[in-house]
Amino acid sequence: MSTPIDATQTAAWKQLLELKENFSLNLREAFAEDPDRAERFTFTAGDLFVDLSKNLITDDVVAALVALGDEVGLEARRDAMFAGEKINVTENRAVLHTALRAPADAVIEVDGHNVVPDVHEVLDKVFAFADKVRSGAWTGVTGKRIETVVNIGIGGSDLGPVMVYEALKPYVQEGLSCRFISNIDPTDAYEKTVDLDPETTLFIVASKTFSTLETLTNARLARTWLLDGLIASGAIEDDDAACKEAIEKHFVAVSTALDKVEEFGIDPQNAFGFWDWVGGRYSVDSAIGTSVAVAIGPDHFRQFLAGFREIDEHFKNTPLAGNVPVLMGLLNVWYSNFFDAQSHVVLPYAQYLHRFPAYLQQLTMESNGKSVRYDGSDVTTTTGEIFWGEPGTNGQHAFYQLIHQGTRVIPADFIAFANPAHDLKDGQEDVHELFLANFFAQTAALAFGKTADEVRAEGTPENVVPARVFSGNRPTTSIMAPALTPSAVGQLIALYEHITFTEGTVWGIDSFDQWGVELGKQLAKQVTPAVGGDEAALEKQDPSTQSLVRYYRALRR
Ligand code: F6P
Repeated sequence: MSTPIDATQTAAWKQLLELKENFSLNLREAFAEDPDRAERFTFTAGDLFVDLSKNLITDDVVAALVALGDEVGLEARRDAMFAGEKINVTENRAVLHTALRAPADAVIEVDGHNVVPDVHEVLDKVFAFADKVRSGAWTGVTGKRIETVVNIGIGGSDLGPVMVYEALKPYVQEGLSCRFISNIDPTDAYEKTVDLDPETTLFIVASKTFSTLETLTNARLARTWLLDGLIASGAIEDDDAACKEAIEKHFVAVSTALDKVEEFGIDPQNAFGFWDWVGGRYSVDSAIGTSVAVAIGPDHFRQFLAGFREIDEHFKNTPLAGNVPVLMGLLNVWYSNFFDAQSHVVLPYAQYLHRFPAYLQQLTMESNGKSVRYDGSDVTTTTGEIFWGEPGTNGQHAFYQLIHQGTRVIPADFIAFANPAHDLKDGQEDVHELFLANFFAQTAALAFGKTADEVRAEGTPENVVPARVFSGNRPTTSIMAPALTPSAVGQLIALYEHITFTEGTVWGIDSFDQWGVELGKQLAKQVTPAVGGDEAALEKQDPSTQSLVRYYRALRR
């Protein structure tokens, strides 16, 4: 196994340390002295117009960051990923989410096998299924049209589909809607099914491994809900054959483990496969996106995939100095490792992107929250960022106070679209323009602030002046696109996938495993009998856990 290049030992890192040591950039002055700054630091990738100029960067900083990318071998690792090399070393897997959107004539081999025809075969199957549901050719067991598709999955088998479904609501076929059950809290399954008609409901059980406790439990709850409902209403007989037929018409699955799908009782004919070289958090553009394909239709789904592809091409072919995901990833390294930034906020000025920050939390934090490098050695610097965010303008009235005036550096990505999904007017006023005025104003306020003299000039009493000063110099990136289309959503996802890759490469980590989620799962299995009243199992737990379980058992009605 190769050893990662230690970023902290590179010449570029040393140069960045020096640049940081003497760093005194004032964004007001930087823009005043350099009229080309906005233009020079604005880049395009696909339809994305990305303004980096309000970041804490100079030409020297950007050059050193690009040199860092060079020195850690970013291009070689990127090419290895695209070529299907097994860069996920702790799981001995290729990392080929980019093959999921490759054109049909591409050749991408894993162990000597071209995977592209397999990808397109599954896509065709998903699209044929989507068309049948959308046209009404696929009905429930009593012949009624499907009205609600319920995706059952968690993590990457939920966050991607729900985020994209919400983002593309205007593209959803009338008369169809999707719901998403993820949490093992029984409230989730209850709430998502309570007002549904079993005769018009179709479940998609989405699980890469088909062994995830939450998903399989929820799938069984859904199966019981379906059969009980159909039998109680007299829609089907209470016998095995009728139940089997009902499950066939109301359950499909998405998984890499088709044998387990069959064991669950779902007809393998109604299962859509994918492969171990697709990470869960990188899988929304695989069959995991079946709920989305049904909702928005194959044509829009193809546009969604084309959006990913556009950014893949940009990432693959653009020199590092103009490569948007590379520059954004390197900037995140600059803030994390040189400014000690702990978190990164993402602020979509698009209500339909309200689940995008949650989606990015898994993508970035499950990928880069690691303490060892891919050869097993300790990391040499801090890794990972805490991603969070909410749609603007709601965030403005909640947590922007801390971003504007708090003591921490919080790099912020602002995302907005030139055209609204819904063109509404308040009298004569275009509401989208009011909305975008906030988007533009916030990044200016963060960059340029307000001095004490400016506050005084407004007649502010002296004792209140300090509280009303804005330091400015708070870094933001502005990302704009023409409209929130399927392609734009694909482009945004691919952008952040490659940003995540860039950071992981600098840190020398395997961004594609997720061993950190395993211990809790194992312990939950061990503690389950104790929760159920097994005294011997309880005594094996630590004193704190014993006390908590006893409290639970005493109070459980
Ligand atoms: O527990 C974490 C995780 O493995 C994620 O990486 C994954 O997206 C999620 O669980 C769901 O896994 P599966 O699709 O196998 O049910």
